[in-house]
Amino acid sequence: MTASIATAHGAAHTAILGIGSYRPSRVVSNDEICRHIDSSDEWIRTRSGIIERRFAEPHETVQLMSVEASRTAIERAGIAAAQIDCVIVATVSHLMQTPAVAPLISEELGATPAAAFDISAACSGFCHGVGMGSDMVRCGTAKYVLVIGVERLSDITDPTDRGTAFIFADGAGAVVVGPADVEGIGPMVWGADGSKFDLIRQNETWIDVLNMEHAEMPTLRMDGNPVFRWASYEMAKIANEALDRAGLTVDDLDVFVPHQANMRIIDAMARALKLPDDVVIARDISHQGNTSAASIPLAANALLESGEAKSGDTALFIAFGAGLSYAAQVVTLP
Ligand code: UT7
Repeated sequence: MTASIATAHGAAHTAILGIGSYRPSRVVSNDEICRHIDSSDEWIRTRSGIIERRFAEPHETVQLMSVEASRTAIERAGIAAAQIDCVIVATVSHLMQTPAVAPLISEELGATPAAAFDISAACSGFCHGVGMGSDMVRCGTAKYVLVIGVERLSDITDPTDRGTAFIFADGAGAVVVGPADVEGIGPMVWGADGSKFDLIRQNETWIDVLNMEHAEMPTLRMDGNPVFRWASYEMAKIANEALDRAGLTVDDLDVFVPHQANMRIIDAMARALKLPDDVVIARDISHQGNTSAASIPLAANALLESGEAKSGDTALFIAFGAGLSYAAQVVTLP
């Protein structure tokens, strides 16, 4: 007779219980970027909305930025690090193939023996992590999940590449996902379009680099305009689907936190969604640049810390990037 395996049971509802972020100290102006590429402060501001960004100093490692952001998130969640059952780190800039950076972060936080692993879903990694963390809590696989989005893209950006040098930046954001009395994380809508794999990618594989006569650190390349068009048109549909699946409409939203890729994409999505005028829109890209997996928690935390958004507000997260991959969900801000 087949053995009867017990079914896991978790929390009926989940929520983001705490959020934290880390901004590197060094502010990098457009003029500094333009020392290495044929561009201008005016072009960068107009085309991307970026006025300045932050680059990490050598001591501001992926681990350090993650730990700082996480400590704040854990404290605000009102739990001890030891209560965390799983640490998910969304990043593409932990420059070691294995092991993942998550166990190191978990160890430094005192979250051991939490399960700890990295996910590689580029700019949409953080939203993937929130959705996975929420599902784990719902299934009983974990009670508290720490989800981190962190990047040191300055390490893998070519300062002389006109298509990417002005966009990418560094930083970290973290949230604690856990059980809640009422629903705080809506169903995730996610996906990927591998036919567009080449639009944002590392220029060379590690093996190709090793076979080169003069090996150079691989860097990111982006065919920006097709990504821009895809994000501006297709992502509004995904955002609408996330609202539908949460049983809400734009009229229920207080805050819109899209991936901070380009101010014109943010505006295009807001128009396509027909967001009411009183919905607060995250525009962190102007002073933070595009920090890939870190951009949504950085932007959400900035709105909370400035008072533009408040705890209990209903927010729509939507992220998209290399893969091309995407993920979106409606959440209640902690
Ligand atoms: O985070 C992951 C997802 N990433 C994104 O969502 C990024 C999406 N893409 C973008 O944000 C935009 O495509 C960029 C900001 C990267 C570029 O803006 P664009 O409006 O798509 O510019 P473009 O590539 O169509 O180029 C327009 C013009 C071209 O000149 P001509 O042919 O019109 O004379 C380019 O050569 O701008 C020129 N150009 C530049 N000029 C000054 C391209 N790069 C630069 C530059 N500085 N850095």
